[in-house]
Amino acid sequence: MSDVKKIAVIAGDGIGPEVVAEAEKVLKKTEELFGHRFETEHGLFGGIAIDEKGTPLPQETLELCQRADAVLLGAVGGPKWDNNPKELRPETGLLGIRKALGLFSNIRPAVVFDCLKDASTLKPEVLDGTDLIVVRELTGGIYFGEKFRRETENGQEAVDTCAYNVSEVERIARQAFEIARTRSKKLASVDKANVLETSRLWRETVIRISADYPDVELEHVLVDNCAMQLLRRPSSFDVIVTENMFGDILSDEAAMLTGSIGMLSSASLGEGSFGLYEPVHGSAPDIAGQGISNPIATILSVALMFRLTFGYHEAADAIERAVKEVLDAGHRTGDIAVDKLKAIGTKEMGDLIVAAIRK
Ligand code: NAI
Ligand code: MG
Repeated sequence: MSDVKKIAVIAGDGIGPEVVAEAEKVLKKTEELFGHRFETEHGLFGGIAIDEKGTPLPQETLELCQRADAVLLGAVGGPKWDNNPKELRPETGLLGIRKALGLFSNIRPAVVFDCLKDASTLKPEVLDGTDLIVVRELTGGIYFGEKFRRETENGQEAVDTCAYNVSEVERIARQAFEIARTRSKKLASVDKANVLETSRLWRETVIRISADYPDVELEHVLVDNCAMQLLRRPSSFDVIVTENMFGDILSDEAAMLTGSIGMLSSASLGEGSFGLYEPVHGSAPDIAGQGISNPIATILSVALMFRLTFGYHEAADAIERAVKEVLDAGHRTGDIAVDKLKAIGTKEMGDLIVAAIRK
């Protein structure tokens, strides 16, 4: 008898509710098949929360997340709120929730499905076997360092500072080693240690932490080389760990290996096993309400939740296998369809995947 896991479900705006509804069907199916028990509770967040509660992140939604073992988030935002003042914008809620929940890393898998290789701009033989995860530090580095402008003899000068302390590097390094342990036990730590002092501290710290993970093979890759190798031999990577700005750029580069934004899952993690799981895409206002969005990114985010927060690897495998099977059978939503006339809708895709989940 397994214990009951609490999941806060926050559908959000635009296509958020459509794709989250399909992910909830997947949760239900895995309960039936694998005997896991989930208790879901829904909360308002983003634009809809602004409309109904006057704030993008209502206190009760935050408390709901804090009580939960994991959060499943759809997407927030849309043109309706674009011209609102900062405190009444959906993105302010996103930043607020990450901060309040202490989420310091962002995890993005990039998996190339054989049958979707035609959706990528790279040659199929280069993409063969690509299945990697980028672990990006989310709360430090140059994005959060002191920034200012000053007058100099040569005119105005702008300064951004990049800072990392040892404990910030330690916690993300440990998380990446733990994830690598559940996969092929290969970790690439990406830095610019030939020029940056923060990178030298990063590398020293990662090496020290690696002593606790002798079963994981560690390599250090300079960020410029990593950017090239991701395009040249992406399948040689398994888990990549890096600082905030490098991770921002490399995770977007890795995402493009796979072809479509409708396929990409993500997790944001803090201390312990708690995590927030969401598709990489936004609320897609251009197609919202039509029932044609691709639910796979959100469904794969559930699989990621099973792996990283609950350790339910068997159920995660089953979900990923079901997605592959449905794609292999030729079913496509509009965003990944070559022949748009044959595209199926959000619900149909969700139902096909649910039906394909087997023990
Ligand atoms: P977007 O990801 O919402 O859409 C970009 C393009 O991809 C659109 O053409 C859209 O139709 C398509 N697309 C996205 N997800 C899809 C799916 N599941 N199936 C099929 N097609 C899909 O990014 P965009 O247009 O820049 O932003 C729209 C809104 O979403 C904005 O208000 C933005 O602030 C917000 N946003 C929210 C995020 C979040 O909640 N984490 C992340 C990114 C954007
Ligand atoms: Mg980015």
